[in-house]
Amino acid sequence: MITPKIAAKAAPTGAAPTTAHARARSNIALIKYWGKADSRLNLPAVGSISITLEALWSDTSVEFEAAHRVDELTLNGERNPNHLARVTACLDMLRGIAGVNVHARVSSRNSFPTGAGLASSASGFAALVSAAAAALGLELSPREQSIIARRASGSAARPIFGGFVEMHVATRADGTDSFAEPMLAADEWPLEVVVAITATREKDVSSSRGMTRSAESSPYYRAWVDSHPADLAVARAAIGARDFAALGEVAESNCLKMHAAAMAAAPPLLYWDGATVECLNRVRELRAAGIPVFFTIDAGPQVKAVCAPGARDAVRAALADVPGVLDTLVTGLGPGVEVGAGPGAG
Ligand code: DP6
Repeated sequence: MITPKIAAKAAPTGAAPTTAHARARSNIALIKYWGKADSRLNLPAVGSISITLEALWSDTSVEFEAAHRVDELTLNGERNPNHLARVTACLDMLRGIAGVNVHARVSSRNSFPTGAGLASSASGFAALVSAAAAALGLELSPREQSIIARRASGSAARPIFGGFVEMHVATRADGTDSFAEPMLAADEWPLEVVVAITATREKDVSSSRGMTRSAESSPYYRAWVDSHPADLAVARAAIGARDFAALGEVAESNCLKMHAAAMAAAPPLLYWDGATVECLNRVRELRAAGIPVFFTIDAGPQVKAVCAPGARDAVRAALADVPGVLDTLVTGLGPGVEVGAGPGAG
């Protein structure tokens, strides 16, 4: 366990339990993170650009108490030993910064299906870092929280911030310059997202394992990494200019490149269902009919259709009608992590 070099500004003194809760949103990357430069520090091999989603959140409460003998995790109301090791590793970083050795009871609830490619680890770990830091009395800046969240899950570094967010690759060996930064607030370009849910099962191969397998075995992985800075530059310019068509073109291309690299891994990674492909075709048809929308897909079968303001209802109706689509969610862009917000999860 390597404690990130972050100095504690305050730490709890008494033995009383310290509790805090936080709400963090999920996010989707328009320019994807796929591949690690360093697995130990969880440094991404490529930068990424994401949008934070208002309606897809994790509410997490953390209670540190000297009497707890081990960390405990309750996820959506049920004890969850599967994700406990990653939660403990994240808490260990914060305990190391605070200089304490108390265990925690963590309770987290998602407003959306867990582990099915809707970035529950991103919102979950962003909320965990902020809630645990507050419960320990640590005054960490958003950037420091982003660095710690990155260590837990790369995509969790981004939704510490709201709206449009860029995540940087490290240039320093210790990774202290690999953090996310806000680009535009949610209301500065109020895009909306329709999520077409085609399955609610947890995915077979996690993003972590999928990207490692892609790096180790896909003949397209190098091309993915090498062509990435150009995609980031195009997306940055499109966001700066609020150019929806340009952003959509580079986002769709970047998404398909990521999946092409994954599909060419050994054994191959195919995150899509038949309905995923039908949704892509439907989005293209909508666009051909003049509706401003583009798609993106993460490591799961769900299709996220990003809509210019005003397009959402037509997109939702069209995707809900695709055979194999079980449900649709609609969300605007949301704020960064909020500490003390939301009901106590439990
Ligand atoms: C396809 O952040 O889940 O969603 O750092 O190993 O936890 P770890 O990976 P994770 O990967 C997310 C991959 C992605 C693209 C993205 O969100 O940028």
